[in-house]
Amino acid sequence: MTTWTAGYVADIGYTHGFYRELTPALLNFVMLTRGQRGPDLDGRAAYCELGCGQGVSTNLLAAANPNVDFHATDFNPAQIAGARALAAEAGTPNVHFYDHSFSELLHEPALPAAFDVIALHGIYSWISPENRAHIVEFLRRRLKPGGIVYISYNTLPGWAAAMPLRRLLTDHAGTRTGPIIPRIDEAVAFAESMREAKASYFTQNPALAPRFEKMKGLPRSYLAHEYFNRDWTPFYVADVAAELAEAKLSYVGSAALLEGVDAINLNAEQQAILKACPDPVRRETLRDYMVNQQFRRDVYVKGALPHTVPSSRAIWTHLRFALSTPRADVALKVQGSLGEAQLQEEVYRPILDVLAKGPATVQAIFADPSVKALDWGKLMEAFGILVGSGHVQPCPSPKDEAARAKRTKAFNAAVTKRAEATEELQFLASPVTGSGVPADRMAQLFLAAQGSGADPVQRAWAVLQAQGQRLVKDGKPLDGDEANLADLRERYDTFVKTRLPVFRQLGIA
Ligand SMILES: C[S@@+](CC[C@H](N)C(=O)[O-])C[C@H]1O[C@@H](n2cnc3c(N)ncnc32)[C@H](O)[C@@H]1O
Repeated sequence: MTTWTAGYVADIGYTHGFYRELTPALLNFVMLTRGQRGPDLDGRAAYCELGCGQGVSTNLLAAANPNVDFHATDFNPAQIAGARALAAEAGTPNVHFYDHSFSELLHEPALPAAFDVIALHGIYSWISPENRAHIVEFLRRRLKPGGIVYISYNTLPGWAAAMPLRRLLTDHAGTRTGPIIPRIDEAVAFAESMREAKASYFTQNPALAPRFEKMKGLPRSYLAHEYFNRDWTPFYVADVAAELAEAKLSYVGSAALLEGVDAINLNAEQQAILKACPDPVRRETLRDYMVNQQFRRDVYVKGALPHTVPSSRAIWTHLRFALSTPRADVALKVQGSLGEAQLQEEVYRPILDVLAKGPATVQAIFADPSVKALDWGKLMEAFGILVGSGHVQPCPSPKDEAARAKRTKAFNAAVTKRAEATEELQFLASPVTGSGVPADRMAQLFLAAQGSGADPVQRAWAVLQAQGQRLVKDGKPLDGDEANLADLRERYDTFVKTRLPVFRQLGIA
């Protein structure tokens, strides 16, 4: 029995995700939308990720932000070995991985004295109170004044109804020994048998059915880490804010920008109740009740420093944005708690059309005669919504783009090389946004061939064939070279028309 795992699932690696909320430019954009000064992340800066999992986010962000020194820890040595292997394949010099626990990290001599950003995604709900205290101590000692923290966690009241389901699963898994995956499968099947037996817990909580159905289809590596740890605590936002206050942190806002837009999430009565509440953290707690929040992605600051109106406007004016989705795929709709909301055609369409021509500053966008003039409040709201929708990205300063491009090219080459064998990595790095852009395996194979002079279709087929793989159309695997090549050609033509222009604008192709 090992002790280093502290009750955390360690016999199965976590998924290889990239989380854009960890992006320096996005975090500073959240600060800006809340009228707060962020740390200078365009100059030399230091960034730390606590519990980095497979290290994909940190590796990608380090390649896309070579001016920032990235340090990341995760006590699972297999994950850190994998993260270091990717850093070595990409030749990224500004990234450092440690297989330390949170308590050990405090004593690592190679760390910078203090960080501008510390991020922890999917950690705080899955560790013991003792480990949370180590994290708070690390934040207290190692975050610079003016530095920011990104933290995500499971939230109450949204998790309340499903807490007994998690208990049912872990109790069942605890009655067995051996590898975790078969135990998860058995626990899920057991919960299913309880549901089929019409246990009142299931029949009287109708919201559980869709959650349980979705859960059954999720990768076991994800379920293991999400549900099967010894520690698992959903929090009220006020309780997290109180713990982080010990590290001198104060709440800034949610990095999930659409969640802060009242018009799409709260009805008039709800808005009135929130308006009457003067305390920002209590207001967030009430908001979580209004929308039955399950997961929060929040930004905190050590020492809030509000912008003046001129200093905020100076940043807004020169801030550059880029479209990261093909223009034709951007619907003028967003999803909020109240349902789908239509965006105002005359405001959003011209902005998106200008961005479809390439990244542009706010100043340049509003200089375009097609774009409707907006007052500052509406302008900030519009860009908050566009970034929150995930289609538009705030960009770091263009001055160092060439240096970023050198590193992202090497990182993307390492990722697309891996695509020859696996579809594990689903993001490429952009020197324009300093962030990740979704790219499935086929897009990666096409992109890799672009640079080699080979026919992308033939090359992609050669890769799939070497692994005995075939394409699937209408649910059926295609037989023979001809059918597979024809289907690949179709996919490539679509890729060239839709995705490739975006990859070009983002400095990826
Ligand atoms: C749910 S995963 C999230 C990983 C990563 N942040 C992501 O989002 O992909 C939580 C991670 O925290 C790590 N972890 C848990 N307890 C830890 C501790 N005490 N010290 C260091 N890492 C820990 C686990 O090994 C795991 O990789």
